[in-house]
Amino acid sequence: MCGIVGYVGKRPARELLLAGLKKLEYRGYDSAGISLIADDHIDAVRAVGNLSALEAKLGANAAGSADGAGDGAVAVAERAATTGIGHTRWATHGRVSEENAHPHYDTDDQVHVVVNGIVENYMTLKRRLSDDGSDFTSETDAEVIAHLIASHYDGELAAAVRAAFAELEGHFAFVAMSVREPKTLVAARRECPLVVGRGEGEQFIASAVPAFLAQTRTVQQVENGEIVVLRPRGVEFQTVSGDPIARETEQVDWDEDTAEKGGYETFMLKEIHEQADTVAETIADRVARGTGVDLDEPGALDEALFVGVDRIVVVACGTSYHAGLIGRYAIEEWARLPVEMEIASEYRYRNPVVGEGDLVIGISQSGETADTLAAMRTARQRGAKVLAITNVMGSQITRDSDGVLFTRAGLEIGVAATKTFVCQVAAIYLLGLRLAELRGSLPPERIATLVGELGRLPHCIEETLASVGTPVAQIAEDHWRDEFFLYLGRHVGLPVALEGALKLKEISYIATDAYAAGEMKHGPIALLGDRTPVVCVATDSPVLEKMISNMQEVRARGAHVIAITTAASAHIADQVEVAIPVPAIDWMLQPIVAVVPLQLLAYEIAKRRGLNVDQPRNLAKTVTVE
Ligand code: F6R
Repeated sequence: MCGIVGYVGKRPARELLLAGLKKLEYRGYDSAGISLIADDHIDAVRAVGNLSALEAKLGANAAGSADGAGDGAVAVAERAATTGIGHTRWATHGRVSEENAHPHYDTDDQVHVVVNGIVENYMTLKRRLSDDGSDFTSETDAEVIAHLIASHYDGELAAAVRAAFAELEGHFAFVAMSVREPKTLVAARRECPLVVGRGEGEQFIASAVPAFLAQTRTVQQVENGEIVVLRPRGVEFQTVSGDPIARETEQVDWDEDTAEKGGYETFMLKEIHEQADTVAETIADRVARGTGVDLDEPGALDEALFVGVDRIVVVACGTSYHAGLIGRYAIEEWARLPVEMEIASEYRYRNPVVGEGDLVIGISQSGETADTLAAMRTARQRGAKVLAITNVMGSQITRDSDGVLFTRAGLEIGVAATKTFVCQVAAIYLLGLRLAELRGSLPPERIATLVGELGRLPHCIEETLASVGTPVAQIAEDHWRDEFFLYLGRHVGLPVALEGALKLKEISYIATDAYAAGEMKHGPIALLGDRTPVVCVATDSPVLEKMISNMQEVRARGAHVIAITTAASAHIADQVEVAIPVPAIDWMLQPIVAVVPLQLLAYEIAKRRGLNVDQPRNLAKTVTVE
């Protein structure tokens, strides 16, 4: 996820901004930049790569090198500016390039902004602003904010930001500054995090506390929908209509390590809690029409290919394979296209029957998994079109495919995939719906309903995270010493069971098995003993009654049934050892919600076993070897 930092005060802003950006490096980024105001000038310097590239550019230009950033960099490097903004970018809209790096600015170079998140209606705004004479220089959605604020500017930056904010749709946070108000920063938040750091005669704002923790521990949280005006002498919080809001200050007592994890004890827990936001980012502007799906974006597969496709083959490994399994149900149901699932390491050595008319989808959060890349290459050489679903711009998979659909989970540090998984599933849902639209296999009203349900996913994830903590902790307490867990599911509940079992196995080192519930009596039932915990995905679906019968079979063997339920399956609560209710959503979309308690269960058990959940033994985040 991108990082924001802003400073207004009395000390040289350049050093403070660079130091702040360094503290946000753990979030992952591919380019960075800063803008500073001094002596009636506002200048930006941006660089692709890590912060040393930005520093080198500032240094080189200050020393008078002719290599390129122009006068702006010279000025930025040389001026003793005490107001500025900085950004680390993780590309989502537009390539990794200097033009796409932040800060962005308006045509007259008066207003500079740094932005996190997504502006969903940027195309509409960009068209209007371009018609009115704005000159856009990047491929990003973020740039529109600078032009929009400039178009509203009438002598007061805060008023211009409020007017712009009212027009923006999406979920984002930004900080703006104007050369005409050199001692002011104005920030705004819709969903994406922002926090103020208070000092004496100086103020900080950032997307996360580590950016200013070395300078101040006095913070004020920016809430959703708020505008914040920062000046050296103080900070004002406002509503979008300009009414003042009182905000308490708080002291943070985190050490740097905890601060990097946003106050969570591990990256994995932080990433589990980021899932609502990351799913929102992944679907955001792609469902902006409200009734359909728009995947026409830079690097996307030519949609004409979708219409002529006869068959889809998904190749992936591990958790990404589970995401594909869910996608298979959705694509077959919605787009009425046959989907074959292939474990990449098997497929590549199988002399597969594949060629023209096939669309092969490679799913890989890292974009570097050797087996997935090899399977995709095999298919491409034989004439299939290849689509990549990945989280990393510029990764190898993006170069080995005919088109890419990016997930927007931000950097995932925990080795066990969590937020990248739910975003992969969200991306495949988008693809399935778009295929259905293009092929006319679902009525438009059904597509509109499903798009509406997709929009509810982030809220359902939030609700789940807020409600399942206590039952999950209790199950973990009761079962963390057990040496075997069985997971059962049917239909889309099966990949959820598989993923839950994989999570527990990889971070707690407990042996797990996951089965299609209907297969239980063909073998695994022999494993059931008196205390065997059996985790059953029993959310509402056309196969719920079948699932309930399987659970009764499990109980009859004395095993402990732990069930993930929704309102429709609430009646089974008294028949199971423990039920974990989650909010109901269209049953095809339920996996994204149902998997959350299983991630947390794995986490809580591993924690009780005293294990390093972020770096489980023998596992690597990126598997670039066979
Ligand atoms: C499990 C996990 C692995 C990966 C697998 C594929 O938590 O992270 O199973 O899913 O190694 O990795 P990517 O998605 O990078 O291809």
